[in-house]
Amino acid sequence: MAVAIKKWVIGNWKLQGSQVFNKELVEGIRASLPALDNRVGMSVCPVFPYLIQLADLLAGSSMVLGAQTLSEHAKGAYTGEVAGPMLKDVGVALVLVGHSERRAYQGESNELIGKKVRAALDAGLLPVLCIGETKQERDAGETRSVLTGQLDAVLSLLDLAKEDMVIAYEPRWAIGTGVSASPEMIAEVHGFLRSYLIGKAAAFGARTPLLYGGSMNGSNADSIAAIKDVDGGLIGSAALKADEFVAIYQAVLACA
Ligand code: PGA
Repeated sequence: MAVAIKKWVIGNWKLQGSQVFNKELVEGIRASLPALDNRVGMSVCPVFPYLIQLADLLAGSSMVLGAQTLSEHAKGAYTGEVAGPMLKDVGVALVLVGHSERRAYQGESNELIGKKVRAALDAGLLPVLCIGETKQERDAGETRSVLTGQLDAVLSLLDLAKEDMVIAYEPRWAIGTGVSASPEMIAEVHGFLRSYLIGKAAAFGARTPLLYGGSMNGSNADSIAAIKDVDGGLIGSAALKADEFVAIYQAVLACA
């Protein structure tokens, strides 16, 4: 189901929320958007303790429940970890992998992220692979090589004929800063990513949703969603406000 959706608006709630806050937010989204269009998926990714609450709040809606990370292991003696089959068991359908905050603060390497994407697919979850360059890497002209390095570590572990993932391009310097990448930069990177993926496997490259992330909000969503090869957004702070999140969804739908 989720895999066939070509465009997505995904809310990454990060380390935020409470039972009261989550309920108000989801009710706010559902009140202003009673039905989703099946061309554009919507997902919210709360912290682990709230997944079951969210599964309940999303009942009867086509919003998709997502998680923010998972273990590379399916089970075992790994204290504090959460495994793909467990996420699946509580109603999760999609999982972020390799978010830049995990790469930076938890030291997640490309190799580990590859294993996590593999674990997500093996558990029947749709992985949303996050990639992006730092400001220093961009300034050094390394954006493309950083992105292809991040992609190659994962693509080599997938059966591109059969398996699907979503890719979110999130320049690290645009995350949480209030300053998104310019439309020209986004167009350049997304065009490059599309042709790189098509070069790996034509059908896979053409069907893989490419999301933009990094200070996308209700005001810039129209112009970002209209860029060629942008198939929606991965949203941080603006996903915590129902009206902003719905405005972004409507901007992406208008381009579907
Ligand atoms: P932001 O976060 O929208 O707050 O920049 C995006 C993300 O980290 O996915």
